[in-house]
Amino acid sequence: MNSFFARAIFRLRAHGRLYVTDALRTAWWGALGMHIGRGTTLPRIHATWPHQVSLGHNCTLEHDVYFKFDGIYQLGPSLRFGDTVFIGAGCEFNIRVGIRVGSNALIASGCRFVDHDHGFSSRAIPMGQQTDGIESPIVIEDDVWIGANTVVLKGVTIRRGAVVAAGSVLTRSVGAYEIWGGVPARKLKDRPGAVTAIRAPAPAGAEPRTATPADAR
Ligand SMILES: CC(C)(COP(=O)(O)OP(=O)(O)OC[C@H]1O[C@@H](n2cnc3c(N)ncnc32)[C@H](O)[C@@H]1OP(=O)(O)O)[C@@H](O)C(=O)NCCC(=O)NCCS
Repeated sequence: MNSFFARAIFRLRAHGRLYVTDALRTAWWGALGMHIGRGTTLPRIHATWPHQVSLGHNCTLEHDVYFKFDGIYQLGPSLRFGDTVFIGAGCEFNIRVGIRVGSNALIASGCRFVDHDHGFSSRAIPMGQQTDGIESPIVIEDDVWIGANTVVLKGVTIRRGAVVAAGSVLTRSVGAYEIWGGVPARKLKDRPGAVTAIRAPAPAGAEPRTATPADAR
């Protein structure tokens, strides 16, 4: 096959088919109550309660992301994602209370977020029937990068601009612009570079402005 036809078939398979099936899928999840921002389309994903999921504008999701709301029926959404969030293949959000993910977050493939534990205080009661489990929401702030196959546990907050190394298990919260890794995760170092905050682009014609310490807060 000459390269023109090979390229045409590749483009059709890679883009044409995906546009159609992803658009249909996105409309389907929207009809089931999922909040889906402009420019966000969905590949094959799984969700127990679609109305518990809110995705911002221009998010990119890879296949087999699992939004598992594990609580009793209640009004949502409890799984909230900002704009321009990337979620890699096979991530699982196993949530009873809630998770909030800020804008521009990058979540690599295979990550898991679990905001609850089973109780285990009594040896006489089967594990699945214990009632004293701890539940606490997870917060991922803006511009965070979470490396592949990371596990984030109950009550963890990852502050703005932080990085989590691949394969980590996060049991404690991470400070802004810090890099954490390991099992359990510990602080490895701070991100290099000056302390500046990401700002929206200045309006056309505006004077350039020098960063001040207040910008970092
Ligand atoms: C976190 C990361 C970005 C750090 O990269 P780096 O700045 O080049 O860091 P270095 O390789 O210099 O390592 C710095 C320290 O962190 C440790 N470290 C790095 N990655 C680690 C990991 N995944 N788990 C535990 N410790 C890790 C190193 O052993 C080193 O420790 P030392 O100073 O005691 O020797 C990188 O290691 C990583 O995990 N990237 C994620 C990749 C990924 O998941 N991509 C998915 C596609 S988006």
